[in-house]
Amino acid sequence: MSKAHPNAANESKPHSVTIIDNQSGKQVEFPLLQGTQGPDVIDIRRLYGETGYFTYDPGFGSTGSCESGLTYIDGDQGILSHRGYAIEELAEHSDFMEVCYLLLHGELPTQKEKASFTHSITMHSMVHEQLINFFRGFRRDAHPMAVLCGVVGALSAFYHDSLDINDPKQREIASHRLLAKMPTIAAMAYKYSVGQPFLYPKNDLKYAENFLYMTFGVPCEEYKMNPVLAKAMDKIFILHADHEQNASTSTVRLAGSSGANPFACIAAGIASLWGPAHGGANEAVLKMLAEIGHKDRIPEFVKRAKDKNDGFRLMGFGHRVYKNYDPRAAVMRKTCHEVLDTLGIRDEPLLELAMELERIALEDPYFVEKKLYPNVDFYSGIILRAMGFPTSMFTVLFALARTVGWTAQWKEMIEDPNQRIGRPRQLYTGPKPRKYVPLHKR
Ligand code: ACO
Repeated sequence: MSKAHPNAANESKPHSVTIIDNQSGKQVEFPLLQGTQGPDVIDIRRLYGETGYFTYDPGFGSTGSCESGLTYIDGDQGILSHRGYAIEELAEHSDFMEVCYLLLHGELPTQKEKASFTHSITMHSMVHEQLINFFRGFRRDAHPMAVLCGVVGALSAFYHDSLDINDPKQREIASHRLLAKMPTIAAMAYKYSVGQPFLYPKNDLKYAENFLYMTFGVPCEEYKMNPVLAKAMDKIFILHADHEQNASTSTVRLAGSSGANPFACIAAGIASLWGPAHGGANEAVLKMLAEIGHKDRIPEFVKRAKDKNDGFRLMGFGHRVYKNYDPRAAVMRKTCHEVLDTLGIRDEPLLELAMELERIALEDPYFVEKKLYPNVDFYSGIILRAMGFPTSMFTVLFALARTVGWTAQWKEMIEDPNQRIGRPRQLYTGPKPRKYVPLHKR
């Protein structure tokens, strides 16, 4: 059942919006729906039937595609919350397993629920042994996101017993498998690229620890876990866990709306995340900082970012929804300093460059007027690099963490009785009907 209800600001009559067709004079009233937070929403489901018109909204800047109870963002205030809990509080006091449970089940777990959930995720962390052969089919220099897309999509060929999306138990098993196997697959993608042996997960390690171990451990010596880095990794996962209806999540929902299996849907999400305007931005930030090279060159690059005839943009700046400081960027900035301190990295030139760039951009009228603030990707690349990840792995880490958000959104969609196959309309601007001209006459 839908939880949104008609806006009843005026008790005698629910608030609504009337659209008047200036040509025919016809008036049609549309109800306003009220969520628990955020602006009211005009319910235009009857629009085409009543008026014969579609709406036009490329980029979906004004269009809600679904009802969701997972994540709330107030872009003007710089607020992000999951199931009502502020991201800052979750990052400070919670851990990734707990946030995963919260997103999937709607409430924070009790101790018993958390233990049982964590146990299930731990028990699903190994991948089918035959997947190793699948990896070997990739070139060693393949981008790990290419490997991730392929391998995650291939999971549906390995786990036939969790593909029935109409069975809640199978949906749960598929969700746990995705969450559990993603660190293993991501670490394998890294190991394959550097020619080191794959490591099996270790059940006595926590989620983020296990990922660090499988990525940076080697079979010939014991891996020494750095608790500050493990905590930072866990925090990075929390910060990326979900972000309502962004491009990759909408892709997962659209793919899933046709009834496709969850592994295929998450693979679609990974493909969408890969682009530099989305999850690929953290990789792009480091490339940009390297290109800038020195503080003295910042004005030159800021000038280029403002030039409409130059395709260059300041990577890690701007967001479709946030018109204020991205709250995740603030946590990430602090974590960045903690990690660099722990690793004894003083005077990291890229961090200094990033901070100076942030300072200059935040004072520049162009960025101020357009409300372009640093986003989550601005600092994450610097932390990940300091932790030892190559740039090509940055988006993989984002995908790993976002898998829970995608999975929870997919589950929410499947369980929504109003769910229909996603099928946007279009404004056709191609040729009008014309006669086919045979090849010899063209
Ligand atoms: N540098 C310079 N100018 C920018 C930037 C930027 N990073 N971002 C936006 N602008 C300008 C645009 O040129 C545009 O100017 P105009 O109004 O004069 O034409 C205006 O700000 C609005 O930009 P849009 O592209 O229309 O905003 P949109 O909401 O479509 O794009 C996006 C948001 C893709 C994030 C954009 O800000 C961008 O490309 N940023 C850099 C890439 C990036 O950091 N992506 C990560 C996003 S966060 C995430 O996925 C986790």
